[in-house]
Amino acid sequence: MTGLRHDAPVGVFDSGLGGLTVVREMLRLLPRERIVYVGDTAHVPYGGRPLDEVRGFAQNISRFLIEQAGCKAVVMACNISSAVARDSVEAAHPEMPILGVIGPGARAAVRLSGGAPVAVLATEGTVRSGAYGRVLAAESPGAAVTETACPDFVPLVEAGRTESSEALAAAQRYLGAALHGGARVVILGCTHYPFLLPTLARAAGPDVAFVDPAGETARELACVLAARDLAAPERSAAPPPAHTFYATGDPDTFAVGATVFLGDVAESVRHLSWREESLVPDGSDAH
Ligand code: DGL
Repeated sequence: MTGLRHDAPVGVFDSGLGGLTVVREMLRLLPRERIVYVGDTAHVPYGGRPLDEVRGFAQNISRFLIEQAGCKAVVMACNISSAVARDSVEAAHPEMPILGVIGPGARAAVRLSGGAPVAVLATEGTVRSGAYGRVLAAESPGAAVTETACPDFVPLVEAGRTESSEALAAAQRYLGAALHGGARVVILGCTHYPFLLPTLARAAGPDVAFVDPAGETARELACVLAARDLAAPERSAAPPPAHTFYATGDPDTFAVGATVFLGDVAESVRHLSWREESLVPDGSDAH
């Protein structure tokens, strides 16, 4: 008996807008699941920060989602958090399904590459953590892996400048390094990067396949919820679930980016304040 309720929400978090790429797949695959999303925009970008600092953010956001928001599962829709904090959060909450995006992304890439070289585009911190290298080595022993840090990408996504000439120049530069070793399968190892897909595809040309871990993450979540009898109950004629979106920075700025990506599902965003190591929602009338 875990005490987890199947009608409880699923918690999802990222440093900012990136995790919405995972939310979009969850909305498609698991339309009955209620989502509580935290975008830690007070601290975005995570990618250049010390790994211990990111671990602390991810542990504290997970604690908020589990203890305050009453979630039945947590999806770390953030590669760097998955790399540095998943194990410790799982150890602290052994009853709770805790999913990351790195395992699902690596498994999807290996299915596509069939043992050929794989490239990973990620933030500096995710590259520094070595997490993709480890998981890919376990999933596809002997396959060559090139990891390239792309520090310019997250600020471009958060600023809504995904199709700018700067974004194209950055994509050409990073892909030049990433594809040098012969890889034709590229993992988008940061949840912000699928926003850049049209620009990346333009820079890469037709022979390169990009893997967005979001779809596989949503599928793995569906399996875990079903296996643990935690899936939201099917109710005919029930209204769609009311999701909650929080930002630790300016909620209105977050709402603009979120609405462009997800539509009116995400138009109301509430502010969450960091108080030392805890997160506190503003009054319920805040938006
Ligand atoms: N979207 C996150 C990731 O997948 C974090 C990006 C950042 O804030 O640097 O790693």
